[in-house]
Amino acid sequence: MSDLKTHILIIGGDGDLAIRKLYPALYSLDMAGELDDDTLITGLSRGGKNRDELMAKVKQRANEGAALNQDAWARFDKRLDLVTGDATAEDDMRSFGQRIDFSTTRLVVYLAIPPKVFHGVCQAMHVAGLVKPTTRVVVEKPLGTSCETFTEIHDHMAQIFSEEQVYRIDHYLGKESVQNLLALRFSNIMFNAVWNCDYIDHVQITVAETVGVEDRHEFYDEVGALRDMVQNHMLQILCLIALEPPATRRADMIRTEKLKVLQSLRPIGLEDISSKTVRGQYASGSVEGALVPGYQDEIGRERNSTTETFVAIKAEIDNWRWSGVPFYLRTGKRLSSRCAEIVVQFKKPKHSIFADQAVGLNGNRLTIRLQPDDGVHLSLVNKQPGVGELPLEELDLNLHVPDSRRLHSFDAYARLVLEVLRGDQTLFVSSDEVITSWKWIDQILENWNLAKAKAHPYAAGTNGPSQAVVMLARDQREWTELSR
Ligand code: BG6
Repeated sequence: MSDLKTHILIIGGDGDLAIRKLYPALYSLDMAGELDDDTLITGLSRGGKNRDELMAKVKQRANEGAALNQDAWARFDKRLDLVTGDATAEDDMRSFGQRIDFSTTRLVVYLAIPPKVFHGVCQAMHVAGLVKPTTRVVVEKPLGTSCETFTEIHDHMAQIFSEEQVYRIDHYLGKESVQNLLALRFSNIMFNAVWNCDYIDHVQITVAETVGVEDRHEFYDEVGALRDMVQNHMLQILCLIALEPPATRRADMIRTEKLKVLQSLRPIGLEDISSKTVRGQYASGSVEGALVPGYQDEIGRERNSTTETFVAIKAEIDNWRWSGVPFYLRTGKRLSSRCAEIVVQFKKPKHSIFADQAVGLNGNRLTIRLQPDDGVHLSLVNKQPGVGELPLEELDLNLHVPDSRRLHSFDAYARLVLEVLRGDQTLFVSSDEVITSWKWIDQILENWNLAKAKAHPYAAGTNGPSQAVVMLARDQREWTELSR
């Protein structure tokens, strides 16, 4: 992978993120032969769990997807060390640093901790001499709750690390179908030719979840769906659909094009806030056959929270390619099914010789499924076999890669951690992108406040508040069905 050995330091080494995502991701990379033999992993924690407890939990997680590979597990077990220490204390960081020969080893530090301690940790790393030009640092959301709070976090880190050293994870960029977007767009000439406002009517991006806020309500209630899902995952997807063709796949070129999309997002002003955005909050209902409480009951009714658990937005991009093409974004918790997909709806043919037929009047539709399964579907109009009046039908061309073709079932984290180890920043988000997306989101939040925009209740297990349907109906459009 490189001539340097790698030492991965996970700060917050016995925390939830480390146990649920990071160690299992590293184990799956190890099993697939993607970790060099001399790669070491240290989990640093304040000492909540002992190593056996930790390993039992990681083993349980690693075992969930596929049967544990005993050889790979034994190898992984040997690489991993759990040490007790305070990552904000220079002495503790210095004593960790004594284990590392920086002339032969690259340090990759994963900050699996809340952003409020990033500064203290980075400062201690710096003073203890752990920040070398080869050092990489990995962070992930929540990166602030506004442009201002992100900038504060960023400015502190930027005093210690260069932009090239920081890997900001958005786990949606590690999903198979999201990675496939660039391949689909830029390797198929037929899409290239029609990927613009002359041929595309609108785009829908949906991330629907069946889960509620569960034990994350303390965090979630301060944040809501707009900050939790739209500022990051959904805007990143929008960027990959909308970006101009970069000259190469180089990370800086792709990131520059994504930034231009974010800079072209039309601000949603106060006058448009109620027609272009919808907030919702789930009430009790039934999801997948089980009765579930409403959001207010989950977080404690006395709080009388106004936080949104659903948001729909009509986003517009003011540039030549996308002029007049709305990007409808929709995400929510406790919806009818778990489904994330992108729908690119093409325009109807300009003139139809089949105008007497109902089918065929809608225009082709390209659907890129992210989950629960991934795949690409293109709806085409076909003549029904037989003789007679030329009856038409809509059929799907399906591009679905069978599981047998997937050599390794890497999850999004494993893919992204692998890219960090490879030193490729293509799938990570630049600080300029984060700042620009926060600015767009901040304005929506501000206008929601000014307009006192209410979170409309929707029954759990439905597709969100009816106001979201009305938003599209005003444009003579409809959301695609969720449960398919
Ligand atoms: C996280 C959000 O970033 O993404 C969660 O904080 C959300 O609220 C999750 O549930 C969804 O991720 P996925 O991969 O399960 O679609």
